Amino acid sequence: MKFSSYKAKPLKGTPVIPGDKSISHRALMFGGIAIGETVIHGLLEGEDVIHTADAMRAMGADITCDDQGVWHCHGVGIGGLQEPENILEMGNSGTSTRLLMGLVGGHSMTATFSGDASLTKRPMNRVITPLKMMGAKVMSHEGGTLPLTMTGSEDTLPIEYKLPIASAQVKSCVMLAGLSAMGKTSVIEETPTRDHTENMLRAFGVPVEVEDLKDGTQKISVTGQKDLKGTTVHVPSDPSSAAFPTVAALIVEGSEIEMKNILMNDRRNGIYMTLIEMGANIEFKNERIESGEKVADLIVRGTGNLKGIGVPASRVPSMIDEFPILAVAAALANGTTTMTGLAELRVKESDRLLMMYKGLKACGVNLEMGEESLTIHGTGDAPNGGATVETALDHRIAMSFLVLGMATKEPVTIDDAAPIKTSFPNFIDLMNDLGGSMMLKNG
Ligand code: S3P
Repeated sequence: MKFSSYKAKPLKGTPVIPGDKSISHRALMFGGIAIGETVIHGLLEGEDVIHTADAMRAMGADITCDDQGVWHCHGVGIGGLQEPENILEMGNSGTSTRLLMGLVGGHSMTATFSGDASLTKRPMNRVITPLKMMGAKVMSHEGGTLPLTMTGSEDTLPIEYKLPIASAQVKSCVMLAGLSAMGKTSVIEETPTRDHTENMLRAFGVPVEVEDLKDGTQKISVTGQKDLKGTTVHVPSDPSSAAFPTVAALIVEGSEIEMKNILMNDRRNGIYMTLIEMGANIEFKNERIESGEKVADLIVRGTGNLKGIGVPASRVPSMIDEFPILAVAAALANGTTTMTGLAELRVKESDRLLMMYKGLKACGVNLEMGEESLTIHGTGDAPNGGATVETALDHRIAMSFLVLGMATKEPVTIDDAAPIKTSFPNFIDLMNDLGGSMMLKNG
């Protein structure tokens, strides 16, 4: 599925951005182990989230979608999941895999996880290590990659675990296994990462303690064997997905778009802070709390005056998925943008540092890549484009280069648009409705 993106008209409209991926995964998992019914409005129906729904069903949860698009879960209770008969196929989804491994770790059953050519390269030792400390047995390749088979423990041990890397997936995995443990499980994090697991557990009636420690770290604790109570979840729109039309509107002069109900959790909004520092015209309206999360309506205007900046490394966790699209904004900005502390980008759906470096270079952008950094020298002029870019099964690389093509002199082609379905199934139609010109490339 090769797609080309041609120069866009000024973008106009009020696109509806799909539901947040992180919150959608968690709503299905918590709904699947809660007592009573959980009703989910606005669930992201992307392939990654559907893998979570299928896996929860395979382990005994009753999960359905009605004809209004509202999802209903009837959970099995803490400790109530059943051993799946077949391999749990996780597709491209690291979040499904690592969080579900936490749930399986807290049940005395055996499950095998597998995934696509991208997921089977991604590191799982980061979750295998704490899960083994909690009593799980895991059989995997030496490097800790999928496919792997694990057996959870009947008596899950509560642990205190200091995260060796800033990762919400690892934090959530340990907390999910901790839901089955006798006693208190704690995770200590040096840098705050997204806290949707904490927020949503509270919404399901399970207390989560957060303690600021003297050394500046934070300890997050949950006491196991407490029932989750089914609830209603309203999933806000995904700020990571909204970042693509946002940058598109910023780099196509004369654009004005409005996106409602975008999640504005402080641990997720780093891209918006960064774009504003670069001179972006983004207005936040109607800031409010919905289902325990901060949301706002965003108006983005393309005034064509982005400038290069240094992005503080401390901001990386709050925009960990947004560096590919930030690199596109930087390529169109005037001046140099430096991004540091990006080691984790090498182990996402692809090596995102390398894929952005190679693709931008092929499109005529002047940039340098370090082991953990990217430096982009924008001139304020549109780069040439005109290349076919490799996307390596990575939805965010694919969408970033389609956005780039909206502003380059020559169209940009991507080798495969199929992975976009994992997180933003209607991306191409939505962008074309706004004024984009993205089309299938034959041959
Ligand atoms: C996610 C956490 C992040 C992020 C991923 C979703 C989550 O991964 O990149 O897209 O929902 O917890 P890490 O925790 O590995 O940084």
